[in-house]
Amino acid sequence: MFSKYTCLLGSLALPSVVLADGAFHTASYFVSYVTQFKGTLVVPPRVPSGGTTYVWPGLQPPDNSGVLQNVLDGRNNHWYFGNTYYGTPSEPYGGGVDASVNQQLGFSMIEDPVGSGNWTINSTSASGQSVSYDFGVQKRLNQALFAVELYDNNWDFGNVVFQNVQVVAETSETSWCTANPQYTNVTIDFEGCRRARAVDL
Ligand SMILES: *[C@@H]1O[C@H](CO)[C@@H](O)[C@H](O)[C@H]1NC(C)=O
Ligand SMILES: *[C@@H]1O[C@H](CO)[C@@H](O)[C@H](O)[C@H]1NC(C)=O
Ligand SMILES: *[C@@H]1O[C@H](CO)[C@@H](O)[C@H](O)[C@H]1NC(C)=O
Repeated sequence: MFSKYTCLLGSLALPSVVLADGAFHTASYFVSYVTQFKGTLVVPPRVPSGGTTYVWPGLQPPDNSGVLQNVLDGRNNHWYFGNTYYGTPSEPYGGGVDASVNQQLGFSMIEDPVGSGNWTINSTSASGQSVSYDFGVQKRLNQALFAVELYDNNWDFGNVVFQNVQVVAETSETSWCTANPQYTNVTIDFEGCRRARAVDL
């Protein structure tokens, strides 16, 4: 028997000053079955100086065979916010919206209908322009993560901040809804919301 819980994580920052190296940094929440993941991503205060940078919230299946993600792409001296499912099954790129430093962007991933394996992902710009795309993921997704992915560059663009983060899950467990993710190799500062809160719907 499942219950549907919404976990309000509030606002969290991944501070660049703590780990300014060129590695792949992630913070992950594991929950049996995620059906929605949404919130705001604040574009960092600077554009990466070079290399390849991807900053994203994403959802992964238990076998890590792919990731559904709203990707803030920092290549080529500008930011761009796109929709993708990277991995297996192979899916086309789902379009995106323009992004500039310090702007607030909306991200949203929703399984519709629940249990279908079909996901609608939506990236929204600061001006309210949005692009959505449907991906036939065909898997249950159980890991909600925040990532800073760097190749051939360092974390030189400032803090990464997520706001108003919500994770909706089909589960009767609430212990995962906490300010301490189950796995992380990056420092997280919760701002404003000190404690995650589960809402039984
Ligand atoms: C952090 O974790 C991710 C997996 O989530 C891994 O790919 C990456 O190599 C790790 N980075 C470091 C610096 O350990
Ligand atoms: C998932 O989407 C595909 C393509 O639109 C559709 O054919 C299929 O019926 C959907 N599956 C479910 C369970 O709704
Ligand atoms: C995308 O999300 C925004 C903000 O939640 C919403 O206003 C918009 O209707 C969505 N767009 C699509 C195409 O789903």
